[in-house]
Amino acid sequence: MPNFDLDAWRLVEAAIRLEDGRQRRAGLPPEQRFRALHPASAEFIFLLALATRAQRIVEIGTSAGYSALWLARACASTGGSLVTVERNPVIVDVAADHLKSAGVADLVNIKVGDARETLTTLDGPFDLAFVDGEKDEYAAYGELLWPRLAAGASLVADNVLSHADEAAPFLDWLHSRADAATTVLEIGNGLSWTVKGVMG
Ligand SMILES: C[S@@+](CC[C@H](N)C(=O)[O-])C[C@H]1O[C@@H](n2cnc3c(N)ncnc32)[C@H](O)[C@@H]1O
Repeated sequence: MPNFDLDAWRLVEAAIRLEDGRQRRAGLPPEQRFRALHPASAEFIFLLALATRAQRIVEIGTSAGYSALWLARACASTGGSLVTVERNPVIVDVAADHLKSAGVADLVNIKVGDARETLTTLDGPFDLAFVDGEKDEYAAYGELLWPRLAAGASLVADNVLSHADEAAPFLDWLHSRADAATTVLEIGNGLSWTVKGVMG
């Protein structure tokens, strides 16, 4: 993306982070917060997208668009694009404003709906999938995402350490697959990183 404006992007990135912190300190309930990804985790998925030159990226759980902002920044460099799925139509408008202000709206297609339905309408193959919806739904997302991932694609999920009990069925499912190699990274709230198509 030749006209990517890093200064504009940085302003929005900082604004979301500050507002997310304010909401947490105010003790707002989760449904009234941005619930933004930990910045260290956001940097990780950004770097992963860059390093793998991911062309087609899918995300579950847009919220106010913080992780989408980082993935879109990678897309601005690689020529890729992001499809992100969010079921809350109110927060989708907030995300759309953030992405527009950061100058990356053209790189992102926001789909409003429940990912367990919306994913069935998406054609793969995707090179990178980022999962950040409700933790007890991760296994369902995984089942739908897997056939839509290219060989060598990465599947990253947040909160696998902070919500270990809820994420356990998802991790068990990944570990049971012969065509998946998975590790858990102690970054932010705990990220699982799976690569598809690795045997043994
Ligand atoms: C932790 S927040 C996502 C934060 C976002 N990735 C970020 O870094 O800004 C989880 C979001 O997933 C959405 N969500 C939960 N279950 C969903 C589902 N089944 N389909 C689509 N979105 C879902 C919630 O509405 C919420 O906005």
